[in-house]
Amino acid sequence: MRLDRLLANSGLGTRSGVRDMISGGGVEVNGTVVTDPSAHVSESDLITYGGSPVNCQTKLYYLLDKPDGVLTAMEDKRLPCVADYIPSELKSKKLSPVGRLDYHTSGLLIITNDGELSHRLQSPKYKVPKIYLATFRGLEWRENEIATISSGFTIKDKGYSEQIASAKLEPLDFGSGTGRALLTLTEGKTHEVRRIFAHFNKEVSELRRIELAGIKVSEDTGSCGTFRPLEESELKLLYDATGMA
Ligand code: URA
Repeated sequence: MRLDRLLANSGLGTRSGVRDMISGGGVEVNGTVVTDPSAHVSESDLITYGGSPVNCQTKLYYLLDKPDGVLTAMEDKRLPCVADYIPSELKSKKLSPVGRLDYHTSGLLIITNDGELSHRLQSPKYKVPKIYLATFRGLEWRENEIATISSGFTIKDKGYSEQIASAKLEPLDFGSGTGRALLTLTEGKTHEVRRIFAHFNKEVSELRRIELAGIKVSEDTGSCGTFRPLEESELKLLYDATGMA
């Protein structure tokens, strides 16, 4: 890759900005000053600007619509995992999923090597909204249960008290002991959706994450298995939601 493109991709500056830095003699590649912006370099070269190393790992952002029956892991000896959906030419890019969806949850998973963004998307501090579509068995949702979820409540299903942050439950349809509802969470405790439903004596039979920070996948599972780069507008939604300029 061209030196100017690699440096611009790494966030050091704009393409014209980094060209000035290079022609000004401030950039070294493997200890040698390089003043030609079109010089060919790779991510494994040691590149410094003003004597400080530049992190040249190109940041990559993808969306996987995870199918049911796939482990949120980059390696597993026995079970299908999200790494199986990542093309082999990206295997060296240090990509990993942001947070995790249960083996039996389908839907939107961000895959990136941007550690700071990944950290912020998972931190409860930024309250990034995630919307789940749940199919459940049990009684119809009552107004007081929806209000409790909206206020936040304490759960003790693991033998100790845990605070569940305020969330939004929207019933969609119900009949013959089964129904569907949307649940919007702004934190990501393990199995949180299933645990919230269980707290109200409802069993989740199907779960799909359909939205994260305004990025959407379809409600039906027809697009499961899709792996694609994020669009610019989608990346902006993630950066806006996490206060990254
Ligand atoms: N909550 C759950 O219960 N499961 C998931 O996969 C995600 C959120």
